[in-house]
Amino acid sequence: MLNESSQKFFIKTFGCQMNVYDSILISEKIKKLGYIETDNIKEADLILINTCAVRKLAEHKALSELGATKKLKEKNPKLLVGIIGCIAQKLGKKIISDFPFVDFVLGTKEMYKIPFYLQKLENSDISSGSHNILKLSLDEKIEGYKTEHVNSVSAFITIVRGCNNFCTYCIVPFVRGREESRSSKEILEEINAMASNRVKEIVLLGQNVNIFGKDNNESLEDLLYKINNINGIERIRYFTSHPKDVTENFIKNVKDIKKVCEHIHIPFQSGSNKILKSMNRKYTREEYIEKIHMIRKYIPNISITTDIIVGFSGETEKDFNETLDLLETCKIDSIYSFKYSPREGTISYKNFADDVLIIEKERRLKVLNDLANQISLECNNKYISTIQEVLWESISENNNSFIYEGRTRSYKKVFLTLNNKEIKLGEISKVKIIGASVFSLYGEIVKGV
Ligand code: 5AD
Ligand code: SF4
Repeated sequence: MLNESSQKFFIKTFGCQMNVYDSILISEKIKKLGYIETDNIKEADLILINTCAVRKLAEHKALSELGATKKLKEKNPKLLVGIIGCIAQKLGKKIISDFPFVDFVLGTKEMYKIPFYLQKLENSDISSGSHNILKLSLDEKIEGYKTEHVNSVSAFITIVRGCNNFCTYCIVPFVRGREESRSSKEILEEINAMASNRVKEIVLLGQNVNIFGKDNNESLEDLLYKINNINGIERIRYFTSHPKDVTENFIKNVKDIKKVCEHIHIPFQSGSNKILKSMNRKYTREEYIEKIHMIRKYIPNISITTDIIVGFSGETEKDFNETLDLLETCKIDSIYSFKYSPREGTISYKNFADDVLIIEKERRLKVLNDLANQISLECNNKYISTIQEVLWESISENNNSFIYEGRTRSYKKVFLTLNNKEIKLGEISKVKIIGASVFSLYGEIVKGV
């Protein structure tokens, strides 16, 4: 146990919301050892880099961040530096040979045991240079790790880790291991603690949340019903849904769960059947369209977001046009778009050529985003003059007025300007939408409702 209470740690997080959640979880554990969090890397006694391996750029950024800590270590030989998560898992030993000053490299399952490894390091001779810890086992189940002090308006909580789908471009199954659902008992305990800390919105996370419980006889529907009964929680969201696992039964069930919001994130990745097959996505464009119809049949006002990759191996202009067409046909509210980035270790890296030129990937990305923006604006314009329930998440001050930022149940960002601070964060207000842009809505408070 550290007894110098002035010990400070700095944590840098790359990647998805699941990484953000992991960093919160790990930070709480480190604070229990007596460390204080700092946002100034220069004053830290412990630097942690939580990494993402999905695209090359994220890997590059994480390794540059690690490289930059070398100078800090030279100034302060007692400084501990660790790299954790997906890149740690992917590169392992190579990190230690390329960055020998690193103190620990903990993979995606070992990183939760960080307090144990920190105590080990405290008892070893850091200056000896041969102390570094490398732990990459993917064997154990991750159990018994919960956050306790989260008090934001909206909180992430991972419910499924890993993935069994092996989309050919994706590194996740290799660095995160097989699908593993947390027990609903543990999740509900964690959400109860969040509710008593005044969290209003729960965002359930997983690479593929709809398969929650498959491995331990539970289901996402049941979990949503149970969270719906927790006092204080007003909204529930879930990300990400693989199209093949969103069943009619699931949608029929969730449409009646009051706190579950009208939004689904359901990536289609490509609109070409040829590309979907080589991506191993396990559905066709026709099946995707049918699924979207089914979802909208039960929940007509649902908003739909998606992920799309351009320039995958073998993607021709015709394939790309089919992606544009699918986006248009499904009237997707907003997209997350990516240029295909071949990842060593994946199936596509081994078997297919990265044959779309970078300049062409960039062109396609721009064409795609221009169309997506146009559709987003059309979708958002439909909100004008409607009344929406908005949960307020942040507030900023500008020239004597207060700008509130919140979201509709359908996950649209809403801005509201007031002359005084009459609303508290975490409140839900009825808002009349008076303007719309590609990325947000603008509203005014509806009085007397
Ligand atoms: N290249 C580009 N995008 C990728 N994604 C996953 N792997 C890759 C890759 N190798 C995208 C997918 C996924 C999102 C999280 O990241 O669209 O849904
Ligand atoms: Fe990767 Fe596919 Fe699993 Fe998503 S579903 S994490 S894209 S392998």
